[in-house]
Amino acid sequence: MERFLITGGEKLKGEIAVNGAKNAALPIICATLMVDGESVLKDIPQLRDVYNLKDILESLGAKVTFKNNEMRVDPTKVTTFEAPYDLVRKLRASYYVLGALLPRLGQARCALPGGCQIGNRPIDLHLKGFRAMGAEVFMDHGTVEVKAKKLRGTKIYLDYPSVGATINILLAATMAEGQTVIENAAREPEIIDLANYLNFAGAHIRGVGTDVIKIEGVERLHGVEHRIIPDRIEAGTYMIAGAISGGDIFVRNVLNEHLKSLTAKLKEMGVDIVEDLEGVRVSVKQSLKGVDIKTLPHPGFPTDLQAQVMALLTQVTGPSLVIETVWENRFMHVDELIRMGADIKLDGRTALIKPTGLTGAKVTATDLRAGAALILAGLAAQGETEVGDIYHVQRGYENIENKLKGIGARIARITA
Ligand code: EPZ
Repeated sequence: MERFLITGGEKLKGEIAVNGAKNAALPIICATLMVDGESVLKDIPQLRDVYNLKDILESLGAKVTFKNNEMRVDPTKVTTFEAPYDLVRKLRASYYVLGALLPRLGQARCALPGGCQIGNRPIDLHLKGFRAMGAEVFMDHGTVEVKAKKLRGTKIYLDYPSVGATINILLAATMAEGQTVIENAAREPEIIDLANYLNFAGAHIRGVGTDVIKIEGVERLHGVEHRIIPDRIEAGTYMIAGAISGGDIFVRNVLNEHLKSLTAKLKEMGVDIVEDLEGVRVSVKQSLKGVDIKTLPHPGFPTDLQAQVMALLTQVTGPSLVIETVWENRFMHVDELIRMGADIKLDGRTALIKPTGLTGAKVTATDLRAGAALILAGLAAQGETEVGDIYHVQRGYENIENKLKGIGARIARITA
């Protein structure tokens, strides 16, 4: 079992670079299953989730190579329509193979993604979309199967702007007959990146980044080269690392327009932020103050930065409120932060945070972002923090310990 050992108290200084976005890479890798010929994807992060998805594509018959953050996928020999359970259960995003295989093979089957630490994670909206396009949906013994001889474009209103449902419907609609309109669609930048990839490959998708997406179905797509957008959540995590350590860092490879809600809150706290085309400089020149934060779908404050920002809010002056509206159970990091001395009270989906000093402790990463938050807390804590179950963190941050070491953090990966 690997753990991170962090000795707190260093002010971080220097430059840290961000990889391509995990949550854009995963659906785009699945979308390569729909094209004729090879796709070349650049800036694919080397993460556990990506390697697992590569295995899934190979099990379906695709030829995949992945080296130096470049992935090549040739789906010519894909004839299998079932993603194997043993691989699917390792990452939830594997359900994007449903939207990608359905138009290609007329059929797709995948284990139902179960609940996880952060919430129930239903897929009713994905299935509502497939059904509206004329697919039959069967659920049996924990698997979901979708079948359609022909998918037909239609109007689909999403009851909630779900990222996953928007992506799965967008994938299927790309090769459906006629026009599909997704209303109340999610507006996350990762969806724009997916649509850019598909449009380069020959799709007709308009309106991504707004809540109405219009897709004119096409008969075929062709292989293209595409570079994945920078990971805004990784960038945000490092920005918070700079702030929590009282340091002065430059985070490179950041699209600042993707991080407006975080930047606004950091500025409100008193963090110095200077943005340019290459990235963002984050420094602390005064004592920081508490703020209130509510997570929302994009362009609201991202739930995927809630845990990390909460670690920072333990180190400011004055109280803060954090309200989590996206996931019903995304406060697993609170108990771990309390072990480190944090003063946090939970009431349903609201956390009241009062500032205290943190001291190093043995803590456990309960999910990906919770793990990141504990590393950040460790940077500010007095003494040594040991973070266990770091495989969660490795699902979403490439080489995090070396990157943080590069800006002066005292962090080591140890094997028990
Ligand atoms: C994506 O998950 C991300 N994952 C999550 O990031 C992120 O937290 C989430 O979007 C919200 O931004 C990937 O992109 C791989 P949703 P997704 O469908 O698509 C409810 C991380 O840390 N809902 O927008 O699963 C659902 O229960 C991960 O990198 C339904 O009710 O999120 C939740 O409350 C964790 N029915 C809300 O919508 C559905 O059919 C948001 O879910 C689908 C979702």
